[in-house]
Amino acid sequence: MGHLIDGKKWAAVSRATTAEEVQRLHAEGVRPMLVVVLVGEDPASQVYVRGKEKAAVAAGIVSRVVRFPASVDASTLLAHIEHLNRDDDVHGILVQLPLPAHIDEQTVIATMAPDKDVDGFHMENVGKLSIGASGFVPCTPLGVMQLLKYENIEVAGKHALVIGRSNIVGKPMAQLLLQANATVTVCHSRTQRLSELTRQADILVVAIGRSNLVTGDMVKPGAIVIDVGMNRVDGKLTGDVDFASVEPVAGAITPVPKGVGPMTIAMLLHNTVRAAKMRQKLITGVQ
Ligand code: GUN
Repeated sequence: MGHLIDGKKWAAVSRATTAEEVQRLHAEGVRPMLVVVLVGEDPASQVYVRGKEKAAVAAGIVSRVVRFPASVDASTLLAHIEHLNRDDDVHGILVQLPLPAHIDEQTVIATMAPDKDVDGFHMENVGKLSIGASGFVPCTPLGVMQLLKYENIEVAGKHALVIGRSNIVGKPMAQLLLQANATVTVCHSRTQRLSELTRQADILVVAIGRSNLVTGDMVKPGAIVIDVGMNRVDGKLTGDVDFASVEPVAGAITPVPKGVGPMTIAMLLHNTVRAAKMRQKLITGVQ
């Protein structure tokens, strides 16, 4: 029986720490503010953004959501992001993805000021992560690392295997695990003999967006299994891991929901407060 990693509990711990930091900033006259830009009516995005907004407010962070119709032209969107870049009251900017097909995501991300890019998607932050410099790290992989830390799971020297190579999760996840001295393997949709590889992993992070891809026979007994999947199957949220068959084999496992998801939001709040602290330090010269 694998130990259940309670993402909801750990996210509450992280959010409480962030809320304390917000109070300290308030005492110094700084009001951390997050602006979420939402384009179109994608139902999943609406739910995610609502969750982010609620959590920000609960932590004392000022939250604004700027909505544009799906038909918005790219120049209007880019002009608004430039406006947010210049607004000194705004500490963090998040553009909810995906964007409508006629808008180039990379252009939008590149327009954001890197020091307000609390999602860590800007190429400057991606580059910093890859060379081990301090920058913003994408919230979901950062949340996974924080979960491993909270659970006292040793990463150094372990074989960590990531399934998925997205810019949002898979690639930054691999970078973070490497930085933590794991031996890292990255698998993806074109990987051959996947189960031969997964059976060698001490830590398995699954972020490929395919319901129940990983089954118990693919997991080494005692392995740590982190499920980043968020799939809707018949209206129900499911992960990428077949919990029923993997849980008896794993040493520890995250459920879906209440696993990695709540940590993603907690790390967004953490990054927003960090952005506010960085600006304050720049202005006052003190931490
Ligand atoms: N869409 C799905 N996940 C994310 C995320 O982490 N950040 C943003 N901005 N959009 C997303």
